[in-house]
Amino acid sequence: MLRFSFDGRPLEAREGSTVAGALLRNGIVSWRETRGRHRPRGVFCGIGTCFDCLVDVNGERAVRACLRLLRDGDRVMTSSSRGAGDAP
Ligand code: FES
Repeated sequence: MLRFSFDGRPLEAREGSTVAGALLRNGIVSWRETRGRHRPRGVFCGIGTCFDCLVDVNGERAVRACLRLLRDGDRVMTSSSRGAGDAP
């Protein structure tokens, strides 16, 4: 098992999980809000196309959670990105 945190909360997931898979496994289905209406977002396409699943990982902003493999000790945070125009 890999240990990681989400917004400071310690969690575990199987080795080989994506960040999105690890969050889902822990019952977390949304981790971002839309800019205007603050609607919850998590995984939508699951293949790196829609950018709904953005998170910050170890200080790196706007990471697609569905594509990033989780590493032991990762610090995953609710995305500070507010949308495509704000991505680094
Ligand atoms: S869920 Fe669509 S890019 Fe990650």
